[in-house]
Parts: sequence; structure tokens; C-alpha cells
Amino acid sequence: MTQDLAPSVRPAAASPSETGGWWRSAVIYQVYVRSFADSDGDGIGDLRGIRDRLPYLAELGVDAVWLTPFYASPQADGGYDVADYRAVDPLFGELSDADDLVREAHRLGLRVIVDIVPNHTSDQHAWFRAALADREGGPARERYHFRPGRGAAGELPPNDWESVFGGPAWTRTARADGTPGEWYLHLFAPEQPDLNWENQEVREEFESVLRFWLDLGVDGFRIDVAHGMVKAAGLPDIGLSEQAKLIGAQVLPFFDQDGVHEIHRAWRRLLDSYPGERVGVAEAWAPTPERLALYVRPDELHQAFNFQFLTCDWEAAAMRTVIDESLAATRSVGAPTTWVLSNHDVVRHTTRYGGGERGLARARAAALLMLALPGSAYVYQGEELGLPEVVDLPDEVRQDPAFFRGDGQDGTRDGCRVPIPWSGETAPYGFGPGGSWLPQPEQWAELSVAAQSGDPRSTLELYRSALALRHELPGLGDGEMTWLEAPEGVLAFSRPGLVCTLNTRGEEVGMPVPGRPVLATAALEFTGGTVRIPVDSCVWWAV
Ligand code: NOJ
Repeated sequence: MTQDLAPSVRPAAASPSETGGWWRSAVIYQVYVRSFADSDGDGIGDLRGIRDRLPYLAELGVDAVWLTPFYASPQADGGYDVADYRAVDPLFGELSDADDLVREAHRLGLRVIVDIVPNHTSDQHAWFRAALADREGGPARERYHFRPGRGAAGELPPNDWESVFGGPAWTRTARADGTPGEWYLHLFAPEQPDLNWENQEVREEFESVLRFWLDLGVDGFRIDVAHGMVKAAGLPDIGLSEQAKLIGAQVLPFFDQDGVHEIHRAWRRLLDSYPGERVGVAEAWAPTPERLALYVRPDELHQAFNFQFLTCDWEAAAMRTVIDESLAATRSVGAPTTWVLSNHDVVRHTTRYGGGERGLARARAAALLMLALPGSAYVYQGEELGLPEVVDLPDEVRQDPAFFRGDGQDGTRDGCRVPIPWSGETAPYGFGPGGSWLPQPEQWAELSVAAQSGDPRSTLELYRSALALRHELPGLGDGEMTWLEAPEGVLAFSRPGLVCTLNTRGEEVGMPVPGRPVLATAALEFTGGTVRIPVDSCVWWAV
């Protein structure tokens, strides 16, 4: 008998009034603001576009939305270069649009998390302009890291740190008379000068910015470079090149310094002083799951992205190790684990897992695995459509600063930021009344929301069914899991009321039927008490 599992249930949106650690089990949908939906026809997504599409997200069945930065910014790094933390960039709307969006989301039962970028500002921020205008050693420079250069005439950078985007992490300034002056530190693009968190004014300003958005009603913050604000005293040399490759592999004098935890503890006190369980989510790169867990101790942040899961190979044993290590580390501090497969900085997982039909099959299976694991999960916009990375963007349309700086991150971040196809046969596929800031591939008509809706075999309906079941089955989300015996290359584990099986072996595998199938990424074949589990598939079984 062949059984094809069609989705049968629709999600009920969670209510923001529900309490009791909502974030411990939440599925949080990442909206990359400039690529989600455009309301005004300039080809760039905006806040009104998002607000209009919120019913789609409520129906999808996610619990919260994380919005990437929409603040006033010259957009040197897609908005992660903030010039005014309390203003909405005209590209994306006005402050009243942010207010409307938050209210409408709450009305639909969705929480809203916004991005906060505390490691660096834009070089157009009033503070940095004042710093450049100030004398060397002047108080306005104290808010950033200015240093004299090395070498006889100060012509060499103050230390050997490299920018994550490639090249030195220092840029030299010019004095009023045009002669070369001090250098300033930027761990990312030169347009993103690093703030000096030893400076009390910096700490106070960010607490005030957090209050501004909390007062507007946001439910929390995704904290950009949460591991970077504190630098080792004296800014010591590293003595190694290709430092971008060391991020997440070892503690560096500019990343994962112990001093950052004091900042997160202060922010937690601030979050807790507001009603309604406001949360902090760390984008933190730490060398081990144990060091990552330090960010989610009871008096620090609520969640940290689990990049070990994202970077894990498609191989059962490796995945099991990552899952065990992640759970053990977060449990040791009483926090839930997060699971992430894609975001706006990495190659989409359909492509990472091999692309084409195989990549899509694995991506669908990985999604069911992720949503069955204990804890909270993040869904990056478009993964519910099975979108692949766009790998053939012409150089002239690219905007990622890493692409232009060469040897840092691989510079492929535009390919996962191509605007979403909503409907229609031709670009921009309902993205908005104008074009789209990055060209969408011709094949995306068949991947649009409209094309996939109602098709029981589509990836969109798979996500809808999985998210609906996650709300219905009490055993999913936060809680315990137990590994079950399984053939080589297969992962099998149980949650209360559910068994999940994942086949990574590269061939169909037979095993005893573990329960009643409720959701599968591929058709199953049953013979007596045995089931043939297709290659690269995942199945949820009710038990
Ligand atoms: C992490 C963000 O996700 C990325 O897009 C950005 O370029 C860097 N932080 C710098 O802000």
C-alpha cells in the first residue's frame, strides 16, 4: 500500500496574552524586510507590505515574526548600519507604520521581535560624525575605538584584526587639513564603526533605545553580533590571518569576550521590567555549545541561535551529535534550544543540501526534523516555499558589502535575499506594484505562494501542516525527547505522542512501522508491519 499524506489541519494562531515562556516553544518567522512585500512600487519591501501580508503568516501557523532592521540607514549593509535607532527609514515607511504593524500582528495573535544593532552604528550616525569632527583624543571619539596607527608615520593599522567582510578592520581618518589621522575600528564594513562599550554613554543610550521600542509594544529583540560588543583590553594582535574562519571556532579578542555577559544581564533586567514576557535573542557565534549556553543563563537572554545545527552535514550520526550537544548545553542552564536552517546571511538550505530535487527533498525533511525537536525554531522567509539560493545574480545588481570586499565572508549573501514570489506568472510575482530590487528567477512562478497553496504535495502545505500539528500535539515544542533504535543512517526519536524518523542514508530503508503516520515529506510504502522509508525523507508518526 502506498500512502500519501495530505495536510488535514489548519493552525490556530497563538495569543499574545498567553503566558508561561511562550518563547520556549515558539516558531519564529524571519522577515527580511526589503524582500518580503513591497506596498509602494519602489521594488523594495516595506512595513506596510509586511502588515498587509500578516494574515499569511498567521495562517501559516508561526507564533512570532522577527523583522530585520528597518531603521534610518544609508543601507551600506542592508540596514545593519543604523544612523538613527529611533526612526524608520523612508525606504520602509514611517514610525506610524511600525506602530500599525505591531498592533495588527498582535490582533492576529503574532508577536513581533525587532533587530537591534549594538556592536556598531552607521558612519552617518550623529555620534560618528561628531567623533570625526572632534580632535584626536576628544570626548566624542571615546564612544568608538579610535587609535593612532603603527609604523613611523602611523601608516599601519593599530593591530592585525581583520574585518568579517574581508580586509583590515581599521580605516584611517583624515584630519581637517587633509593629512592622515587616527584609525577607527570596524569589524564589518568601514561604514559600520564599532562602538566602545566601555563608555557609559553608549550603555545608557542603548537602554533608552530598547525602552523606545518596548514602549511601542514590541515583544523582544534579536541582538545583532551579541558576542561582539566587548573587546579584549589593549586590543591585542591575533597573530593569525583568515580570521573570519576562526569565528565560532575560538574565542577571539573581539568576539565572545566574557565582558559581554554583563551587558546581557542588564538588558534582561530591563526586559523583565516590562509586562508580557519580552525576550532577547542572541545572534552569537561561540566556539562551543557550552560557551553559547552562557548567553542564555537564567539572568541573561532567552534564546541564542544554534548555528551548529545550521552548519551540520546531511548525515544522521553528525546530526545526532549536534542535537545531543545542543540540548545538553542549553539544558545545563535551563534554557530551550533553538533550531535554525537558514537566514539572510547563509546559502539557503535547499541549495546547501545539494540543490535540485535532492536538495529540496532534504530541505523538506530537515524542516520536519527541526519542527519535531524540543525547543524553538526559526523559519527564514521563503524556506516554506522551498526556495533555492539564486546563484547566478549578475555582479551589477549585487549589494552585499562582503561581495565587494573579497576575502572575508564568501559574498554570496544576496542570493538568499531575492524577493519572495507571491503570485502570478511573471516577475515580480506579486512582490509589489513595481519591480524587485534583486531579479527573481523565471522558474519562480511555480514556487509562488499562490501556486503552492492547496497543493497537498507542495512545500508550503507541508509547513502549514507541520505548524498546525505543532499547535495541536501537546508533546511538541519544549520538552523531552528520547532516541530510538534505528537502522544506520536513520534518526528516530520520540516525543510525547509522536515518533519522528529521518532517513539520510542515500537509499530507501525498511523498518518496523513505528506508529500511525500523520505527516511525511514523501510517499511511504507499507508491507505488513514494515515500512519502506524513502531516501532523504522525514515522517511524523502518532503513537
Ligand atoms: C549579522 C547580520 O545578520 C548580518 O546581516 C550583518 O551583516 C552583520 N551582523 C553585521 O551587522
